[in-house]
Amino acid sequence: MKTIFINGSPHGRQGNSEIFIRQLMIGMDVVSDVLYVSTHQYDELADQAALADRLIFVMPLYVHAMPGIVMKLFEVMKPAKKGAQILFVVQSGFIEAAQSAYCVKALKHQAARLGYECLGVVVRGNSAGVSLMPEKANRKLFEDLQALGQRLAETGELDEVIAARLGDPYRLSRQKLCQLQLLSRLGLGDLYWQYMLRKNHAYKKRFDRPFGQ
Ligand SMILES: Cc1cc2nc3c(=O)[nH]c(=O)nc-3n(C[C@H](O)[C@H](O)[C@H](O)COP(=O)(O)O)c2cc1C
Repeated sequence: MKTIFINGSPHGRQGNSEIFIRQLMIGMDVVSDVLYVSTHQYDELADQAALADRLIFVMPLYVHAMPGIVMKLFEVMKPAKKGAQILFVVQSGFIEAAQSAYCVKALKHQAARLGYECLGVVVRGNSAGVSLMPEKANRKLFEDLQALGQRLAETGELDEVIAARLGDPYRLSRQKLCQLQLLSRLGLGDLYWQYMLRKNHAYKKRFDRPFGQ
């Protein structure tokens, strides 16, 4: 079975999607081709995708949607070859996997439109810092991605239990939300974003509301 990974991130090899792909591959115990939407020509990508028995799209969530480059690729993709399967993995920055709800619908729609058997859409929140975190902090995530890849290779199906674990929390509880709001007001919110603000010399401006009153 010819499996092709498609990395849908504008960050290509440097991004978090690439890390997800490598972990899935370790679990599958194969070295599959990876195509990069950020650097390949769309027509060339569409031609290669049409030859695969199974496509695994891994992409970030951008403003509640698939990245524009992925949408553009869907516009030129050819109908699936007979029996071809497709699996999507969407990883995103905010904690709640529910952020990806609209994207999930859109991806399933694209799969059906092109005639692929859709194995599912795995969603994972809280992933913006994956490339910056030490290996230890990503241990659970990597174990789940490897197990997901392994189950896929063994059964040809998506393991719904592992997928559900990756997609947890779907929504934050009221209590957790209150805790996070409090931490944020005390300036002790997400350490990753604090790091990014400092790195971009914007820390002092973090409470600015350019469009507010
Ligand atoms: C332009 C842009 C828009 C984003 N929009 C969202 C969003 O709507 N929801 C979310 O949870 N994360 C959002 N993110 C965070 C990315 O999904 C997250 O950082 C992801 O891990 C990036 O993956 P990559 O390095 O493979 O591109 C956004 C990031 C960027 C740069």
